[in-house]
Amino acid sequence: MFIRQEGSVVRVTAPAKLNLFLEVLAKRPDGYHEIETLLVAIDRFDTLTFCPQENSRIGLTCSAASAQGGRRFGSRTAAAIDGGASELPVEEENLAYRALRLLQRRSGTPRGGSAFLIKRIPPASGLGGGSSDAAAALLAANRAWGLHWPRGRLSELAAELGSDVPFFLTPRRGAGAMLAVCRGRGERVEPVRGPAGMHFVVARPAVGLSTPAVYANCQPAQNPRSVAALLEALRSGRIGRIRESMVNRLQQAAAGIHGVVEEMADSFASLGALAHQQSGSGSAYFGWFSHAQAAARAALRLRGRGIPHVWRVRTI
Ligand code: C5P
Repeated sequence: MFIRQEGSVVRVTAPAKLNLFLEVLAKRPDGYHEIETLLVAIDRFDTLTFCPQENSRIGLTCSAASAQGGRRFGSRTAAAIDGGASELPVEEENLAYRALRLLQRRSGTPRGGSAFLIKRIPPASGLGGGSSDAAAALLAANRAWGLHWPRGRLSELAAELGSDVPFFLTPRRGAGAMLAVCRGRGERVEPVRGPAGMHFVVARPAVGLSTPAVYANCQPAQNPRSVAALLEALRSGRIGRIRESMVNRLQQAAAGIHGVVEEMADSFASLGALAHQQSGSGSAYFGWFSHAQAAARAALRLRGRGIPHVWRVRTI
């Protein structure tokens, strides 16, 4: 998260995330799943701009950037991000809007404001776009309303909004990447040190996947794997170990819902990635590459296959 303030206006860049590891440990009585996941933030951003107002009204305007991130299209509420496959939520359903409302209510501030959201992270991708927007909204309004809530208190609200939201409030540890092991339903965040500047290619097919549907189709692991091996491998930089230690237990569940998951896996298998897997509940898929040129070549080939969203990204 990068926050800038000009006068009373606060602008926050809200990154996407990738799950380098995701194990499903158990189904919980509250309907959620107990998980262990390793999240890393990448340099693909939505942008949220917040203008505070003295009256209590809260508004949200949303526009979607085009597939490759240049031209904008659509407006306010429900522009289809890729020809109708997925839609941007309208105000009450939008997590950033709900975040503003929640902070307004809990803080008791009489103030409101208008938020403008530019979406470059497609919904229904497993990239945490909606969660990141919500975290950005909390940070922006906290600053613009002069509330001075500490991050820990904002994180409690974040956890009420969604399992992935607290991760995006994590301060970076030293010079490394914004990396954290998340447990519980994902809301218990432990920042860890990790390598900066890993090269990835992210591809998001035309079809999106619903997180509740993918979890509902998932069997918790019989012999769960631990994130510890991946953390150790990342520290040592041993590529073979990193590859062996990466897993996403939700990938099989997603593949049971839509054939596009296997298609993405096949596409990446032919590209020479060091490792590749689905992010979160999908449908976005990513490959890890040794250097920028290898990633650029892979991205070019994926675009040539007609995949609508293909980005070359790095950890931040
Ligand atoms: O927490 P969030 O609102 O993002 O979760 C969306 C849905 O995904 C939940 O309603 C639940 O069906 C599923 N989920 C789950 N276990 C998790 C996280 C999400 O079953 N750890």
